[in-house]
Amino acid sequence: MRRAVCPGSFDPVTNGHLDIIERAGGLFDEVVIAVLVNKSKRSMFTVEERMEMLRDATSEWPNVRVDSFYGLLVDYCSANDIRAIVKGLRAVSDFDYELQMAQMNQRLSGVDTVFIVTNPLYSFLSSSLVKEVAMFGGDVSHLLPAEVDKRVRQRLAETAQPS
Ligand code: PNS
Repeated sequence: MRRAVCPGSFDPVTNGHLDIIERAGGLFDEVVIAVLVNKSKRSMFTVEERMEMLRDATSEWPNVRVDSFYGLLVDYCSANDIRAIVKGLRAVSDFDYELQMAQMNQRLSGVDTVFIVTNPLYSFLSSSLVKEVAMFGGDVSHLLPAEVDKRVRQRLAETAQPS
């Protein structure tokens, strides 16, 4: 069984993430999407909500499942018999940090990182930019699964400050 992990914050999942996950699913027997539990980072959605949106968005892909992890990614990989980490590379600006993490992870445990080059349609896309655009009323519906777009708008409406 060739099993890979797609790790990330996924706050929330975008069409760019899904493109990478789908293509990883074509390369590996099983792909685990692992949502990082990061207690210090302020997020729009809880880990459970993010996992729910990911499950919903990937339900058509039988070899993809969703999990969460806390701590070192390499420890999660060892505990789950995962041999490869899959990352999307959007631009050269991603490369420096991704290379550093890939080399650190390789040195720590021997796990390899496989980079999938992002579809140019999504090379500008990130969860944080999507949230910022949505917060100021911009339309991000073409960048997110329909259910995620709905939940982003709901969450912004819930947290809107009365003026
Ligand atoms: O979506 P993100 O926030 O860019 O994902 C970053 C992530 C989760 C892949 C990275 O922060 C990570 O692997 N965190 C787990 C802690 C860890 O293993 N750190 C050492 C990295 S060399």
